[in-house]
Amino acid sequence: MKTKLFLLIAASLIILACGKKESKITTAQKVKPTVKQKIIGMSQCNLGEPWRVQMNEDIKLAAAKHPELKVIYKDAQNDSLKQVAQIEEFISAGVDAIIVSPKEAAPLTPVIKTAFEKGIPVVVLDRRVNGDKYTCFIGADNKKIGKAAGEWIVKKLGGNGNIVELKGLMTSTPGQDRHSGFRAGIKGSNLKIIFEADMKWLEPQARKEMESALARFKNIDLVYAHNDPGAHGAYLAAKAAGREKEMIFVGIDGLPQEGRMYVKQGILAASFEYPTGGKEAVDTVVDIFGGKKPEKEITLKSHVFTKDNVDKGGKWL
Ligand code: FRU
Repeated sequence: MKTKLFLLIAASLIILACGKKESKITTAQKVKPTVKQKIIGMSQCNLGEPWRVQMNEDIKLAAAKHPELKVIYKDAQNDSLKQVAQIEEFISAGVDAIIVSPKEAAPLTPVIKTAFEKGIPVVVLDRRVNGDKYTCFIGADNKKIGKAAGEWIVKKLGGNGNIVELKGLMTSTPGQDRHSGFRAGIKGSNLKIIFEADMKWLEPQARKEMESALARFKNIDLVYAHNDPGAHGAYLAAKAAGREKEMIFVGIDGLPQEGRMYVKQGILAASFEYPTGGKEAVDTVVDIFGGKKPEKEITLKSHVFTKDNVDKGGKWL
């Protein structure tokens, strides 16, 4: 009898305990539904220039609106091999998506293809890879920007003059496109490219190349640099030689705290905007997580900033 009573009490206690636990979970779920955290691996080719710092900042701001997202940032410090290794790490860690702004097209193509073929969504930002083994490419149209810069320069110089072209890293696609676009833009004019060099997107390198150009050429009318740090480096070289007033400087990027500021200060005659695409990359990844198939290519629009329009927000290309 005693054993029966004991068993009955024990059984009721177990049932009660189970019931309580269940109801606890149900209440908790009602109050705060459990959202699965999604991990995005972000590989930035370097953080040496303000433009790339801004890209990461734009990603952070956009991701902060989605509490379920966690972004892991890696800086490849301008080293393609390091960047390949970072993406390999993301693949083995099993991240839910990758955002990558590749340093160079060729070395990054195979590892991005591997990630994509393993089913990890990959958003390629700003610089392209070869082929089409990625989920989505986001960037502004560098050929269009280069061409618009060329046409603007032809007009500004009345079709005549000596030009120095300081190119971005020519193993990266924006350098190639800003070059070919520019050449298309000046076609048929009497502008002469008297000096061209690859300054690899770097201000100190641009300054060094400009020193050589200044040493070789007495008459330089304009410097077209593929980015604003390059144009600023050229300006500093010309200033150090006391020749900055003999020529004008044109750059690309148009960040408020960099190119647009130089335009306001009269250091650059024009800066062409190159938006970072950080926000659009996060929006695209969120769409993918939500089951949407993104466009293969998202093209961002650009402004041109000159002294006359910079305070009014520039002019659309
Ligand atoms: C920064 C940068 C920008 C340029 C972009 C091109 O590293 O050089 O100035 O617009 O990369 O990819």
